[in-house]
Amino acid sequence: MSSKRTLLITGGAGFIGSHVVRLFVNKYPDYAIVNLDNLTYAGNLENLKDIDTLPNYTFEKGDITDALYIDELFQKYQFDGVIHLAAESHVDRSITDPMAFVMTNVIGTVNLLNSARKLWAGNFEGKRFYHVSTDEVYGELHDPKEFFVETTKYDPRSPYSASKASSDHFVRAYNNTYKLPVVISNCSNNYGPNHFPEKLIPLMINNIKNNKPLPVYGKGENVRDWLYVLDHARAIDVIFHNGANGETYNIGGNNEWKNIDLVLLLCGIMDAKLGREAGESEKLITYVTDRAGHDLRYAIDAGKLMSELGWAPSVTFEVGLDRTVQWYLDNWSWIENITNGDYQNYYSKMYGA
Ligand code: NAD
Ligand code: DAU
Repeated sequence: MSSKRTLLITGGAGFIGSHVVRLFVNKYPDYAIVNLDNLTYAGNLENLKDIDTLPNYTFEKGDITDALYIDELFQKYQFDGVIHLAAESHVDRSITDPMAFVMTNVIGTVNLLNSARKLWAGNFEGKRFYHVSTDEVYGELHDPKEFFVETTKYDPRSPYSASKASSDHFVRAYNNTYKLPVVISNCSNNYGPNHFPEKLIPLMINNIKNNKPLPVYGKGENVRDWLYVLDHARAIDVIFHNGANGETYNIGGNNEWKNIDLVLLLCGIMDAKLGREAGESEKLITYVTDRAGHDLRYAIDAGKLMSELGWAPSVTFEVGLDRTVQWYLDNWSWIENITNGDYQNYYSKMYGA
């Protein structure tokens, strides 16, 4: 592969996308990186303020559901690689508004596939379409000895996971039918800096700091497998460059936590950092009505990625979670700008439009 490439990263103003953009912009000065993001409620350009004036970085505000616009963007930049992260990502929102998930996650992905196919027109040398997906496509696990592997049968159970499963199927279909060079990864729950405060960990950090109730769904018995977001970004780098054409790689930290145990752990860390008495914050825990169709347990076997491509997580959960809580406390204005809505003005402040 040539050292000069023009890469499209979609969803780069979001949580994981911003870490991927930063990693690529800093690590590959010869790559021209175009970050395409529509700046929905989840997109925040403040996440990228440390790199947004670098010469190998360009931001484009646009919607992946707009096929004509996407075609023009591919013609304008002549991308030779795509890393596709743009999505509606929150399960609770998919329960109240499934169609937004169909539009962005399914139609948006197919638009990108069509534009890549058109631009590359059968000349696939040095080209790659990388689709970033989730472990939720595999459904839920009950047997504690079971893990999701790449061949686990798809069994999506929420509108969010159904839309991601559908997009995965389209990506594989384009590989089979048109020989489009693709690679897919399915990752477990991420945590870390810049995580939008509607998701479990940042929501709890925000509510603990503000002495607000900590809403635990159902009995708090559901299990998630947590991975530090920078380790996901490192895995995407490795898979994008070294993954085999048409393959799928599972990514996970082998780090399962029951929700209630994780919330208790966060309460303890926050008590210590805020100088509260041990046990004070956990009094805020409030059990609330369960999420509809709530998946019981996710757990990833990342053995293929580790043995074939040599990836391994770089931080333990203890270190990653402490770093995350500290990042929120040190950057409290980031969360305040979200809760007061100011983050949505960052585009006009930066780009004057
Ligand atoms: P996020 O919600 O934080 O960010 C999504 C980004 O996509 C936002 O910046 C948003 O503005 C943008 N976007 C949404 N709709 C768009 C559209 N129509 N056109 C252009 N841009 C649009 O999401 P995230 O948590 O960073 O997840 C990124 C990707 O990784 C998603 O594809 C998600 O399914 C996948 N994933 C997430 C996790 C996780 O734990 N968060 C785990 C595994 C996989
Ligand atoms: O597994 C990967 C997926 O992880 C990604 O594909 C999704 O984009 C991402 O949002 C995440 O989905 P989850 O539904 O697992 O994450 P969430 O943070 O919403 O919830 C984590 C668990 O915590 C889940 O069991 C629901 C529970 N929960 C969540 C919230 C927001 C609560 O108990 N209380 C809450 O307030």
